[in-house]
Amino acid sequence: MLVLLNMAMTADGKVATVNRAVTSFGSPRDLAHLYELRATADAILCGARTVEETGATLGNGGDRYTQRRLKQRLQPYPVRVVVSGGGSLSSTIPLWGTDTSPVVVLTSERASASDLERLRRHATEVWVSPGAEVDFPEALRRLRSTYGVGRVVAEGGSTLNDTLFRARLIDELHVTICPFMAGGRNAPTIAEGEGWPRLSHASRFRLLRRVQRNGELFLVYGIQSNR
Ligand SMILES: NC(=O)c1ccc[n+]([C@@H]2O[C@H](COP(=O)([O-])OP(=O)(O)OC[C@H]3O[C@@H](n4cnc5c(N)ncnc54)[C@H](OP(=O)(O)O)[C@@H]3O)[C@@H](O)[C@H]2O)c1
Repeated sequence: MLVLLNMAMTADGKVATVNRAVTSFGSPRDLAHLYELRATADAILCGARTVEETGATLGNGGDRYTQRRLKQRLQPYPVRVVVSGGGSLSSTIPLWGTDTSPVVVLTSERASASDLERLRRHATEVWVSPGAEVDFPEALRRLRSTYGVGRVVAEGGSTLNDTLFRARLIDELHVTICPFMAGGRNAPTIAEGEGWPRLSHASRFRLLRRVQRNGELFLVYGIQSNR
């Protein structure tokens, strides 16, 4: 299983403004980069807040990308996977209005019975990990066995990213650096959460590619070592 993470950030490392009103700083080129990545993946993985705040339906980007997917023998649309450990994912998001591909919600036993029932009305499947945490390695195995998923594009946000980094599940990191300064002590960065106390604990990546386009820098890192 290959997991790629794609994020756009400001020059000062923020992925949203401090009030979360702006969550995307990228240009149309950056959006095309996202669709190009999606066009290589069997599934998209997103956190609940990101799907709610952006109203994303996690589609494939349109006909042009459908053709690319079919050429690569992928399903026309990626499987959409949303993480909501507490089951808080809203019932009113645009995602529920699209039935282009299965939607799988990953949750845990923290979710109440009523939220599980509610989510089951909307999603294709709701997978409940035993205990309080979502078991990502198990979810990835299940995505492979149920939907034949071999390649996932993760798209944030910061809470989900932190868990994926800590579980050492990210193989490739795509970062677009956008020419803005957002500032704000509490504005989120790529990965929030506990972090690592020492650099020796951190996963090490190596820079694979860098492309500059109209003031934006597109960086691709591959995992080098997970300690
Ligand atoms: N610039 C970019 O490229 C970019 C990309 C994506 C997002 N963003 C923005 O980044 C900001 C920060 O994102 P965020 O951290 O608030 O959002 P997030 O990770 O998308 O969503 C957080 C919610 O998702 C669920 N979740 C995430 N990780 C989980 C885990 N490991 N286990 C169980 N549940 C998990 C939880 O839902 P429950 O409450 O149900 O437990 C949690 O409250 C947002 O403003 C977002 O819009 C920016």
